[in-house]
Amino acid sequence: VEVDWDLSMVEKGGYPHFMLKEINEQGAVMRQTLTGRTEGNVVDLSNELSWTSDWARSIKKVHLVACGTSYYAASVAERVMGLFTDLDVRVDIASEYRYRSIPIGEDTLAIFVSQSGETLDTLAAERFAKEKGARCLAITNNGLSSIAREVDDVLLLKAGPEIGVAATKTFTGQMAVLYLMALYLAKLRESLAKDEETRLVKEMTCLPYKIEGLLENSGPIKSMAEKYSLARDFLFLGRGFSFPIALEGALKLKEISYIHAEAYAAGEMKHGPIALLDRAVPVVVVMPDDELWEKTLSNVQETKARKSPVIAVTTVGRESSLKDVEDILTVPSTEPELSPFLTVIPLQMFAYYVALARGTEIDQPRNLAKSVTVE
Ligand code: G6P
Repeated sequence: VEVDWDLSMVEKGGYPHFMLKEINEQGAVMRQTLTGRTEGNVVDLSNELSWTSDWARSIKKVHLVACGTSYYAASVAERVMGLFTDLDVRVDIASEYRYRSIPIGEDTLAIFVSQSGETLDTLAAERFAKEKGARCLAITNNGLSSIAREVDDVLLLKAGPEIGVAATKTFTGQMAVLYLMALYLAKLRESLAKDEETRLVKEMTCLPYKIEGLLENSGPIKSMAEKYSLARDFLFLGRGFSFPIALEGALKLKEISYIHAEAYAAGEMKHGPIALLDRAVPVVVVMPDDELWEKTLSNVQETKARKSPVIAVTTVGRESSLKDVEDILTVPSTEPELSPFLTVIPLQMFAYYVALARGTEIDQPRNLAKSVTVE
């Protein structure tokens, strides 16, 4: 009998690349992450975290520290925590954290987000914060990792092993765990109204279905990606929650397709990047239906006036207001704070199909490593 598959394809569950398999696992990862933590639409992490209400009320600062894709998940969390609590929240790149003279002490919760739990910069940052007296939490996919072993508390992603060097499902897993942690901390501090908790947790449990629906209808992304695969530069734009997603979309594209891609907060476009725009530079605009939509629409118009092709990632129903836009990728509607879980999916797929069209090594891009254990 002739077979047209080999053992490595079996490991990939029939997918041509681990990355595509892992992108398609994101609904399941989301479901798995919520299981046992959100029964009855209530966030409960008391089995995993030793936090008490007294301690939660005693802290004043939260530092989120990470590298690469994990830094973008942490950047989404920074915005979320700002909504749910009155804490002073900041996000730092792990390799920079130690070089700043910011106060860190017993009033500080320091959160280290690392898929592998082995990134040396993140580990060094954790040791630094611990020495200064911060309470340290690791958010990781590996409970046995160096970072997990050194911190006071650990929250696991439950994403399963990720083989593709470019992180996809662990990004979703990190965001999900960070949201739950933010909600739980806000509850302990009594800064979150019960109906807010219910609204968000209810919608989080719907996200796996929405993610799976998006993945099933990804056909148009492939042909769109082929059309843009010869571009030399890309600009990605987003505001609010969508700014870290624009950064992550640009990172995915450069990691696996080797195309130069830069992301900017949409409002910063006029302070530089607009000078680069012409018909050869496609602009990906992440603009889900939220209170910033109109403002981002003005960036789309400025971009169109410079003749750059626009690829808009927006919420279904908004297409009619984007008549002049070349390509539109829609995501289902959700609560505005949860849009990153959906808007990142078409960007991952877009990067994947651009790389496929260019014939690059998708699962193992040149010069990159899954886990970086040098400073
Ligand atoms: C490397 C990987 C990235 C990852 C980053 C941080 O650069 O290629 O995909 O985001 O490290 O890794 P970590 O394991 O700490 O999340």
